[in-house]
Amino acid sequence: MRLKFLPSFAKRRGRITKSQEENLKLLPNFSIKTLVDIQKAALDFKYCCLEVGFGNADSIGHDALNNPEILFVGSEVYMSGIGSLLRIIKDNNINNVKIFSDDIRLLLDTKNPIETFDAIKIICPDPWPKERHHKRRLINNSFLELLHRSMKQKANLYISTDWENYADSINETLHKSSLFDESKSIFLEKKGLTKFEERGQNEGRDIFKFNFQKGNHPS
Ligand SMILES: C[S@@+](CC[C@H](N)C(=O)[O-])C[C@H]1O[C@@H](n2cnc3c(N)ncnc32)[C@H](O)[C@@H]1O
Repeated sequence: MRLKFLPSFAKRRGRITKSQEENLKLLPNFSIKTLVDIQKAALDFKYCCLEVGFGNADSIGHDALNNPEILFVGSEVYMSGIGSLLRIIKDNNINNVKIFSDDIRLLLDTKNPIETFDAIKIICPDPWPKERHHKRRLINNSFLELLHRSMKQKANLYISTDWENYADSINETLHKSSLFDESKSIFLEKKGLTKFEERGQNEGRDIFKFNFQKGNHPS
């Protein structure tokens, strides 16, 4: 079958440990499959935020623990990362996290989009540094359109990357887009560094941050 989207993530070999395997058994309790599922779950919360590609759950785990009034939806394809988030959920008895364990574009690419999210965070999307791989990068016009359709008016979009060449491309795509406006206010201030931000810094790269909001423009 032909894939609708070019994979934006690298295949990882990484073995799943016994304890990650145990935690992964909890996935059905937290798994959501559609925007309608999210809307239903969000009724019990003041706000609803999405993190795309949460990796080892450094950011979403911290956010969920410290903001019980917000429902956090995390999307990740990397099973051992999903296992890490499930461990945080279990150890802290967290009830404000839902997980989409597949390519986020499959959730957002629906005929009937619903304005669901108050904020979306994407920290260090896979950089695909080689030029011939740039087409695999997640942040492009068609992805921004998908995000835009699922966001509430004025919802916040935060993206960071530690790859200058990707930062240039994100900057250009966001500034040329009529769907988003640059924003001064961040919905949820980010604390600490994620694994990939830390790696970037240790390897001498800067972290480029983009803070935008959904504009009033028609999509
Ligand atoms: C470079 S890692 C960054 C992880 C984490 N945000 C951090 O800063 O440590 C990018 C993550 O995005 C995930 N990812 C890439 N494309 C995705 C997609 N289309 N849907 C969901 N997750 C995706 C990858 O599996 C990977 O774990």
